[in-house]
Amino acid sequence: MKILVTGGTGYIGSHTCVELIKSGHEVVIVDNLYNSSITVLDAIEHITKVKPTFYQVDILDKIALNQVFLEHKFDAVIHFAGYKAVGESVSIPLTYYQNNVAGSLNLYEIMREHNVKKLVFSSSATVYGDPHTVPIKEDFPLSTTNPYGTTKLFNEMILQDLYKSDPTWSIALLRYFNPIGAHESGLIGEVPNGIPNNLLPYIAQTAVGIRDYLRVFGDDYDTVDGTGVRDYIHVVDLAQGHVKACEYVIHHESIEAFNLGTGKGYSVLQLKNAFEKASGKEVPFKIVERRPGDVATCYADPTKALELLGFKAKCDVDQMCKDSWNFQKNLK
Ligand code: NAD
Ligand code: WQD
Repeated sequence: MKILVTGGTGYIGSHTCVELIKSGHEVVIVDNLYNSSITVLDAIEHITKVKPTFYQVDILDKIALNQVFLEHKFDAVIHFAGYKAVGESVSIPLTYYQNNVAGSLNLYEIMREHNVKKLVFSSSATVYGDPHTVPIKEDFPLSTTNPYGTTKLFNEMILQDLYKSDPTWSIALLRYFNPIGAHESGLIGEVPNGIPNNLLPYIAQTAVGIRDYLRVFGDDYDTVDGTGVRDYIHVVDLAQGHVKACEYVIHHESIEAFNLGTGKGYSVLQLKNAFEKASGKEVPFKIVERRPGDVATCYADPTKALELLGFKAKCDVDQMCKDSWNFQKNLK
């Protein structure tokens, strides 16, 4: 099948391109390289022996995006392109709505015009807001606490309305929990822009000495050791989940939301300890105030993805930390 991957040179997109190619699919990437590098294409080629077709196109540029659809007949689209920094979205909300909502609307309109109606959308566990209980199931109430999260929820609502208006669409809304790790080759991984917001990149940069110490945001939560608990999922597992979701939308006409997580929670200190074990490096830390907007515990019920997609995450946190370290140590 020929798959368009928007944001395909980014962190999750690049790993998904590798897994798509490994599964025999043909990949075309659209990315404006705002948060990724053209060298990722060489890395994908190195791993898979196939260089994906690439267009440096901004999804806000409707004419250029339409041209890509004129040049290729796609069987499905996986839509990663977007901005993802929660804190930044609070400072510049209009930029986030423009890129993540208006850009996505361009894509959906062009897909409809070209009769390409199979879509896998990158949503996020952030759409569950502050869940009342865990594990989180897909039918839990949805709410958001920041503009980034609202852009994801708006996309989900737009796509629900689109499906209602035309049930020949087929859409998977993938709600990722906390993706970490890197490809085992060490050739692709997450390269944070500036000071990392997310825990694992911060731990990794502390381990190599770029940061002095990890700030642990609160140790007074009602959790195993008082620090926040999250469901970390290996990015290669996540990428394989996209291949399954892509094949699902190609063979069904429906709209479904899926949690992509492991179903297991790890605290901040447990993840730090696992990283120290995997890297052999010490990660100094200080306990500081809670970060506003954080929830104590967040982990998935992954049953629906297993039942409908046949997807189950395989890697444990030791593997995730080992692969993250393998990528990080080559970066310095
Ligand atoms: P990323 O920043 O590494 O990748 C996003 C890619 O989209 C980048 O390569 C960027 O250059 C590109 N892009 C951004 N705006 C664009 C535009 N207007 N036109 C074309 N390309 C554009 O991020 P990621 O971590 O790979 O995340 C991919 C998707 O998954 C995003 O939509 C993100 O919101 C979502 N998501 C990420 C996480 C996470 O923790 N990483 C969790 C849940 C959901
Ligand atoms: C994890 C835990 C922090 C950094 C975010 C987005 C979410 C999704 C994934 C895109 C929490 C603690 C963190 C640090 C720390 N992204 N922490 N020191 O907040 O679960 O989710 O990324 O969709 O939308 O909100 O992930 O990695 O920031 O934090 O103690 O320097 O680590 O308090 O308990 P989060 P995170």
